[in-house]
Amino acid sequence: MKSQNSDTPIPPPRDPELAFSTKTSAVHLPLALTPDKDPPGADSLGLTSDEITQFREQGYVIKRGLINPNLFKPFLDLWWLQPPAQAAKLDPGKPQTWVSPGRHWPKENRYSLAANWMGDSPWPGLDVERVGANQGERIGRLPHKLTRDIGNDVWRWHGIGHDPAFVRVTSAHPNVLYMIEALLGGPIKLPCRNRGLYAVFPRLPDDPATKLGPHMDQSLTEMQVVTYLEDVEPRSGGFTIFPSSPQRLYPTSQQAYNWVAGETSEAAMDRIKTEVQPIEFCGKAGDVIFCHGWVVHSAGIHEGERIRKAVVQDFNRSRKRGHMRWTAAGKHGAERINCGMDGVFRMPMDSDDDPADGMREVTNQWIMDSNEFVLSRRPVYADIFEEWNLGERSVTGDVIAEPPWWQKYDLPMLPTGSVPRGGGGVPAVPLENIASYEGDGIWRVKSRANDWMN
Ligand SMILES: [Fe+2]
Repeated sequence: MKSQNSDTPIPPPRDPELAFSTKTSAVHLPLALTPDKDPPGADSLGLTSDEITQFREQGYVIKRGLINPNLFKPFLDLWWLQPPAQAAKLDPGKPQTWVSPGRHWPKENRYSLAANWMGDSPWPGLDVERVGANQGERIGRLPHKLTRDIGNDVWRWHGIGHDPAFVRVTSAHPNVLYMIEALLGGPIKLPCRNRGLYAVFPRLPDDPATKLGPHMDQSLTEMQVVTYLEDVEPRSGGFTIFPSSPQRLYPTSQQAYNWVAGETSEAAMDRIKTEVQPIEFCGKAGDVIFCHGWVVHSAGIHEGERIRKAVVQDFNRSRKRGHMRWTAAGKHGAERINCGMDGVFRMPMDSDDDPADGMREVTNQWIMDSNEFVLSRRPVYADIFEEWNLGERSVTGDVIAEPPWWQKYDLPMLPTGSVPRGGGGVPAVPLENIASYEGDGIWRVKSRANDWMN
């Protein structure tokens, strides 16, 4: 039988951390999406015909009160005890302590990590010499990613995203899985992690105003979902999306399952940013927005006085998978090399790095539940929702507990030893641990993606 992929080209490798966007700024300010604007059905499980039409045309649906917010309490309590909250002396009873905590955060943190970098070393700081990378090379995600963005300080607590109890009350909550199957259709891949708890803080009056930064994540995500752990009022950092953006971008992709920007993708992105009225998801703790995975989105404008606490999540169908989105750090001043969809690192023969050197740091975007390309490289369908359910078939609990990608490749993820709950994450491993050298700069990864199916 002719392979579905035999005539589809392998796109150039790209950095797994890179989002898709253009230089154009967003023209319109977001409209607050409060419950009075929901189509009928927002308060119940399942999809009404109005909601199906909205998802088809706009690419999103909101479910109100989908999760009992009492389930979040243990994790919100734990949040206040984490190192970024302690360093800034955040006090749950004193809102004045919540403003711009980034002033008190260290320039670089290695909070809640095991000594497992390249097997057995501490995760390196900027001034540390490394066996597998240039000094100061990026180390990828941390359990606590702390940034001072335009206007607002942001703490992305990725380390709670692989806590099994946290996943159970967010991504794997039965009501959430029900909605994923009603929209995307089964078999659903049971989520083993999410990106974690993203907190956006109030800013000082003199800090610059928040601006929208519209982009598409171009990760392996069929549905992007955001759950609020606390109430979010208008202009208080609500997750902001550009409705109809998936419908506009999808036909420009070179592939149906893996986003590969085509010749008209940038023009489509520019039109989204100039023509589309963005909307800002406002709601109560336990409210959830479900979007097509290729939705153009932005951190919301935050001019309020509370901390916005949301969980960012990704969902996929259970499918045959391809290679992981590996990236190899540069060494001896040479550049980072990303792994292609075919599982091959092509090391240049004319750089300062020895192309046969297997002691190079290899990492991936470990915050994702799905980190492997879809094996099929087929082109897009005429209808973006060709394979989706959108309320056509009843929900039967068609969910498959695949092993997560880090188990397939024997990579550490969960906190171990003295690492506290809410810590952990995948360190760099040597290139030679995951790939074999074939000469002429070619390192080939052995796929373990579908072994579990046999
Ligand atoms: Fe994003």
